[in-house]
Parts: sequence; structure tokens; C-alpha cells
Amino acid sequence: MRKKIVAGNWKMNKDLAETQALISDLKKSLPATDAEVKIAPTFTSLYAAFQALKDSPIEVVAQNMHQEANGAYTGEISASMIKSVGVNSVILGHSERRAYFGEDDALLAKKVDTAIENEMEVIFCFGEELDDRKSGNHFKLVESQLKNALFHLKADAWKNIILAYEPVWAIGTGETASPEQAQEMHEFIRKTIAENYNQDLADSISILYGGSVKPANAEEIFSKPDVDGGLIGGASLKAEDFIGIVKAI
Ligand code: 13P
Repeated sequence: MRKKIVAGNWKMNKDLAETQALISDLKKSLPATDAEVKIAPTFTSLYAAFQALKDSPIEVVAQNMHQEANGAYTGEISASMIKSVGVNSVILGHSERRAYFGEDDALLAKKVDTAIENEMEVIFCFGEELDDRKSGNHFKLVESQLKNALFHLKADAWKNIILAYEPVWAIGTGETASPEQAQEMHEFIRKTIAENYNQDLADSISILYGGSVKPANAEEIFSKPDVDGGLIGGASLKAEDFIGIVKAI
């Protein structure tokens, strides 16, 4: 059985005190759940977040990571630095990293390799832009994103991979993919993994949906058979909303 997961990507929001306050609220209101619940605060709050959540099932995730082990890369953060503050999981390939920081599939393949070498969990994000969907190119585009960044991995490495399908047109726009659109793409992603590896591996991979998930729409999206949870942006910044989404899984 694959894992159900609800993860909050806080992006560039919440300073240290705000991080601590939101974590305190989340701890108080987290319901009993079989799902894995994760939050990704910003780098400057990672250590405090990890410390605050040591006695909680909520896991802490980093939002990005450099591909090299160390060296003259001013402003960057390595895998071992993230691990040294207790965090063993990282989001890679987010559309905002791709759009604003020039991260392409080839670079992401290297980052994924570095994370795997360091035995870290990867939440790998991908998804089409509106133009791709309008022109009917969305399946091809998604397939190429997976192929270029992930399909060089040995089957064994996939135990560390969580996928997050995030159509760019649905991120922060209030417009979600319909549950049917999400299911259709998630099913396609699973089929593509089965074709490149095998059905057992494809069936074991958690595929999250991300893009304007809210308490009001989460249950319907999560009810689809190939949707194993969500990667939540805006609605993860308020305890009540995030917990509402956790309850929907
Ligand atoms: P929103 O939930 O704000 O649309 O963001 C989704 C996202 O980018 C999560 O990584």
C-alpha cells in the first residue's frame, strides 16, 4: 500500500517566530491520521522546526538543495547541511525554481542524484504550463519532465521518491485542476512509470496533487484512486486550513 501524504510548502513565508507559532498551532490540532504530514518551512527556520517537532509525527522538509557537496557556491545549501539540522527530505523541481531560478531537467537530475546519494527523501515537482494544456501537449511535457530528471534512476532509488504533479496554471491562482483532470494525469504518470520500470514499482509511488488545494476541494481531489495526497501552498500557511486538508485525506 502506498503512503498517503499531505505536505505544506510554505515557500518564502513565515519568519522564525511565525514558524514557531504555526507549528505550535499545528501540533495542537493535528488529528489522528494514517497519512504522513509534512511541512517545508524556509531554511532559516529548519532547525527550529525540526526541534519543535521532535515529539510529533509531523515531518520537516527543505524547499531546495544544491547539487554539489560543498564549495564556492555563495548562498547555497548542501544536502549534508540540511541533514545536519535533522531534516532528511527535500522538495526539488518546484515550478517556481524552474521559472525564476532557471532550474531545468538536467540540473534537477543532478540534484535528485545528490539527494539519493545522501539517502534523502525527494518530493519531486513537475507539471505543465497553461499553454501546454491548451495545445494538448501536457501529457508529452509531463512525460519528458519525468524522463529527463528521474528515469535514469535505478528502481531501488524510487523508494525515496514522492511525486507531486503541480500544473503551473493551478498554482496560487485559485483555479484547481478538476478531480477528473488530476486523476487522468496521475493515472498517466503511473502508467508511464510502469512502462519504464514495472507495475509494482508504479503502484508503490505516492503521487501528490498540488495547485490551489483548499479544505473545500481537498476531499474530492483526494478521493480519486491515483491521487495519494497533496502538496499545499497558500492553504498550508493557516493551521485551520492545513488541518482541514489533513482531515480530508
Ligand atoms: P498553492 O496551493 O498556493 O496553489 O501552491 C501550490 C504549490 O505550489 C505547492 O508546492
